[in-house]
Amino acid sequence: MSDFEGLRALVTGGASGIGRATAELLAARGAQVAVLDLDPTSVDKPLLAYRADVTDDTSVREAVAAAVTELGGLDIVINNAGTGARGTVEDNNDAEWHRVLDVNVIGMVRVARAALPHLRRSQHAAIVNTCSIGATAGLPQRALYCASKGAVYSLTLAMAADHVREGIRVNCVNPGTADTPWVGRLLDAADDPAAERAALEARQPTGRLVSAAEVAGAIAYLASPLSGATTGTSLAVDGGMQGLRLRPVGQ
Ligand SMILES: NC(=O)c1ccc[n+]([C@@H]2O[C@H](COP(=O)([O-])OP(=O)(O)OC[C@H]3O[C@@H](n4cnc5c(N)ncnc54)[C@H](O)[C@@H]3O)[C@@H](O)[C@H]2O)c1
Repeated sequence: MSDFEGLRALVTGGASGIGRATAELLAARGAQVAVLDLDPTSVDKPLLAYRADVTDDTSVREAVAAAVTELGGLDIVINNAGTGARGTVEDNNDAEWHRVLDVNVIGMVRVARAALPHLRRSQHAAIVNTCSIGATAGLPQRALYCASKGAVYSLTLAMAADHVREGIRVNCVNPGTADTPWVGRLLDAADDPAAERAALEARQPTGRLVSAAEVAGAIAYLASPLSGATTGTSLAVDGGMQGLRLRPVGQ
């Protein structure tokens, strides 16, 4: 499929996990792709790589401007860079709340703000935000992370409304637990990584973790010009975790 032929895309957090899989998929389907990441050293051609921190407005503006110059314009933004936090509302101090909201929410705002003037010139403008099942389901020990992704969900709807008449579509994907380096780090830090992995797998009706490629496929669906009538939606990629209520096996 070459539905992205002639289109130019920017993927934040594109050096690892879901962002990396998305950047590679968009490129395979014909897009020219620039990756913006804290550490883009592992990013290879044909992907373009820019070092930037989404919490630093100047570095975002400089990276977006450099990418737009190199790409000759911009049609698609995948707002994917994100960070995690563990605990209940009693466990994270104010500094930790500000840090996570700065990356997960305001980071997307900074990238969108820098990109919008360029997207307005595109015939197929689309933004896809990486949200989470944490926006729509209460997950234990994830108060701050869930709050940040709930904000991403509402931001997606508000941006979709603001920019629909400019021809810019805005949607989000809500992954369940995905098998990425991020989750690998969480498992490594657990007392019993194998038991922790089994618990995460059992939480999803499919009985396994979501792959980064499966989330990338959903992001590409939303970003594609073939989805020109789709805006203001969230697409769950969670092995059925949000919508299904299974009975225990054998009952
Ligand atoms: N893995 C999961 O289970 C899961 C589930 C739901 C949602 N998500 C979301 O998917 C997105 C990607 O997660 P992943 O699992 O692929 O993680 P990952 O750690 O594999 O990749 C995240 C990338 O983002 C970059 N990044 C982090 N902070 C940044 C910053 N301040 N500026 C620029 N780049 C930054 C990192 O360098 C890294 O390359 C995140 O928004 C995360 O919240 C992940």
